[in-house]
Amino acid sequence: MKGVVLAGGLGTRLMPLTKVTNKHLLPIYDRPMIYYPIQALVNAGIRDIMLVTGGNNAGDFLRLLGNGKEFGLRHLNYTYQEGEGGIADALRLAEHFADGEAICVILGDNIIEGNIAIAAEAFRQQQIGAKILLKEVKDPQRFGVPVLEGERVLKIEEKPAHPRSAYAVTGLYFYDAQVFDIIKTLKPSGRGELEITDVNNAYIAAGTLTWDLLEGWWTDAGTIESLHLANQLVSQTGANKLER
Ligand code: G1P
Repeated sequence: MKGVVLAGGLGTRLMPLTKVTNKHLLPIYDRPMIYYPIQALVNAGIRDIMLVTGGNNAGDFLRLLGNGKEFGLRHLNYTYQEGEGGIADALRLAEHFADGEAICVILGDNIIEGNIAIAAEAFRQQQIGAKILLKEVKDPQRFGVPVLEGERVLKIEEKPAHPRSAYAVTGLYFYDAQVFDIIKTLKPSGRGELEITDVNNAYIAAGTLTWDLLEGWWTDAGTIESLHLANQLVSQTGANKLER
């Protein structure tokens, strides 16, 4: 399984912190934000990783991360997203890199306490379709929210005003190679982006999406409040612990 870290976007919700740098280069406690999602993939046994970034500061990632030596990697792959097409548009750029293999995708501003190795192994066994990781949250309206019927996800609603469950779809996704064909069928949403939620809804329609609950704390760091929370959580308990 290969790994893809999505680290583009303008970070407008963090202005003016993101006026002269990329959101994913901002500090979370003692490391730049981008270190955490890369470490999460490495801890899950994923060593072939591509970083998708964009904007004016893309070169800074290369200077910061190089070939990934700090993570025990021998090589890191990079690609550049032109414009602001959304998460699924950024993922599209990884098609050549994935080369028909399954991928684990993590959003560059998602920080986890634990380890996704077990979910990764479950997806290796699953072989086809997709897997998402859900987490119970206090503010589901900020996220993709699953509509559940018992154990079944009926659909995912993106940032619903009236969430129909207390879960967020976290920014950690497992996909088979079909994901790139699905992305080609997507139309931009109301916010003008190709939505990862539409990708997941396509897998639900095909009956091939599974889900697990994510253990340990999880947060994004894309708003001032969540960036502050991420700093608190990491400083108090640490992130990406190898042991469960
Ligand atoms: C994105 C996804 C959303 C998901 C969230 C997780 O939201 O669109 O479905 O729940 O990441 O961090 P965004 O950060 O683009 O608002």
